[in-house]
Order: sequence, then structure tokens, then C-alpha cells
Amino acid sequence: MYLVCLPLCCSAALPKIHIIATGGTIAGRTASDGKGYDAGQVGIDVLLDAVPRLKKYAELDYEQFCNIGSQDMDENVWMALSRLVNEVLSGDVYDAVIITHGTDTMEETAFFLNLTVRGPKPVILVGAMRPSDAPDADGPANLLAAVKATASRRCQGREVLCCSAGKLYEAGRIFKYDSHAIEAFCSGNGLSGLRRGMFDISSVGVLPKVGIIYGYAGCSTLPLRAFIDNGFDGVVLAGVGMGNFYGEVMDLALKAAAGGMKIVRSTRVVSGGVFTPLGEVNDEQCGFIAAGPLNPQKARILLMLALTRTDDTAAIRNYFAK
Ligand code: SIN
Repeated sequence: MYLVCLPLCCSAALPKIHIIATGGTIAGRTASDGKGYDAGQVGIDVLLDAVPRLKKYAELDYEQFCNIGSQDMDENVWMALSRLVNEVLSGDVYDAVIITHGTDTMEETAFFLNLTVRGPKPVILVGAMRPSDAPDADGPANLLAAVKATASRRCQGREVLCCSAGKLYEAGRIFKYDSHAIEAFCSGNGLSGLRRGMFDISSVGVLPKVGIIYGYAGCSTLPLRAFIDNGFDGVVLAGVGMGNFYGEVMDLALKAAAGGMKIVRSTRVVSGGVFTPLGEVNDEQCGFIAAGPLNPQKARILLMLALTRTDDTAAIRNYFAK
């Protein structure tokens, strides 16, 4: 976790930042009946106009890529976004990209972009926990913090970053741990060997299909059966403890792995991860893959991207061991 420092002195030319707006609560508006709010309602032009000081730190332009709640993000949006960011940053025009995004799946988009966006130029996702018209809206301060951080050039050569509540978080480590609080994010352990832009998806049409199954006492085999019957390429088990699963699910997972489905064991526990020699399951014998420190949603993304390169289980294990 890195605190955002206060302004640089801006005598030299201001950096050029392209802002890509995708929606989220930062672009949210109070519902017409006054109860709750809707995400992805307000245009990026309005959000930027509300923070005139941004212009002091950077030359900004923007595009409205979509305007959705981040619960509606999916692989197709990620792929299109990744291609757009690569294109924007490939020329000499822009020094950085800032993406406004809902906080619910921000860690997933950031993780995907980190693995697929090349080069050293800063990419920062920024969101908010209060809608844009709330009296205590946090979006304007977060936008300002993201622009200042980008303009300070301290973010050059770094992972894709997320900016929230005045702090910067690396894509490989960030996770959302509070569903309401302004300080919604935390930084956990990541895989240090995953490099920014290590997966080239320029010729990938559709990503492999990977689902997640949440473990609990007496877990049903139905979700795993459904994934198998529907031809999924892989499944991440968000197991209990060190990636354990109810016996019947484990038995079915063993059969699925023997049949070629990739089974990654992660955990529903917030910290600690799943490492193969430590627990009760011998992944090599079972044909499984241990997720290491990755939570289920990040393990799913790494498995999808690894499957674009290889379907060799041992080779996929290497990505998770980095
Ligand atoms: C969303 O993720 O789009 C809604 C919640 C938020 O932005 O905080």
C-alpha cells in the first residue's frame, strides 16, 4: 500500500492523461425515490467538471467507454478495455491512462489489465464508495489523488494501480474487504513473478471458460456438475481453510481433473492462500493446481490467461508458483 504524496511542482509540460470512464458508484446518482442509488449514471464530463483543480496537474482528455455498475463487467469488456489501453499508450501522445471504475470488481479488472497491458506508462483505476451527488462523495478526492499520483511520475514502470481513499494499491495485491466503508480496500500478498503485460491477448478471440465454486459445509456437487456438463475449461474451488472441499465435491473434482478440466484450489479465507505442500491435498497426485496467495477471483483470471498459452497442468502450475 502506498500513500499518495502531495503535488509535484509543475514547471515542465504537464503530463497528458487519457481518462477512460466505465461507470461505477463514482458515476452513480441517488435513485429517484431517494432510496439508495444507481451506479453508472453520470457522464465523465460532469465528473471532471466537478474537480476543476485536476487541470493544474495534467492535460486531460476523456472517453466514455461504457457506463455500468462493475458487477456487469465481463471478459469481453476486459479484453476490449485492455486493447484500448494498449492502443492509447502505444503512441507518443499520452503519458498515462486513468480508468474510472466501480469498486466491486475493480480488483479483477486491474489484475486482468496488469497481466495484459504492456509498457511502463502508468495505468490507474479509480472509484468511489459514495455516489457523485452524495454530500460526502469521495469520487472527486479520489480522482484528484489519481491525477496527482500519475502526474508525479512516481507511478512510471509500476504495476497497474488502483486509487481509493487517498491510497494507491497494486493490482496484484488489492482486494475489497469492506462493502460499505470509504476505506474499502486492503493490500494482501501477491505473486511477485507475474509481470505486467506478460500475456499478449491481441490474437485471442474468446477467453477460456473458467468458473468459481464457493465451498461450505455439506457443499453440493451441483455447481461443479453444471460446469463440467457445460464444457468449462477450468474451475477455481474457493475452498474452506487451506483449500479443502466437501468429500463428494473433491471426488468429482478428481474425476474432472482426470478428464482434462483444470482445477485450481483457492480459499474462501481472506488471507493465507493455498500452497501445495502445506495442507491435506497433494495437488500433483490429484492433478490440481494450488492458487498460492491469489484469491478465487484473481486465480480465475490467471487460469483463463494461462489457458490461452497452454493446457499443460504442470506449465499452468508454474504461473501460480511465480
Ligand atoms: C460498482 O462496483 O459499480 C458499484 C459499487 C461501487 O462502485 O462502489
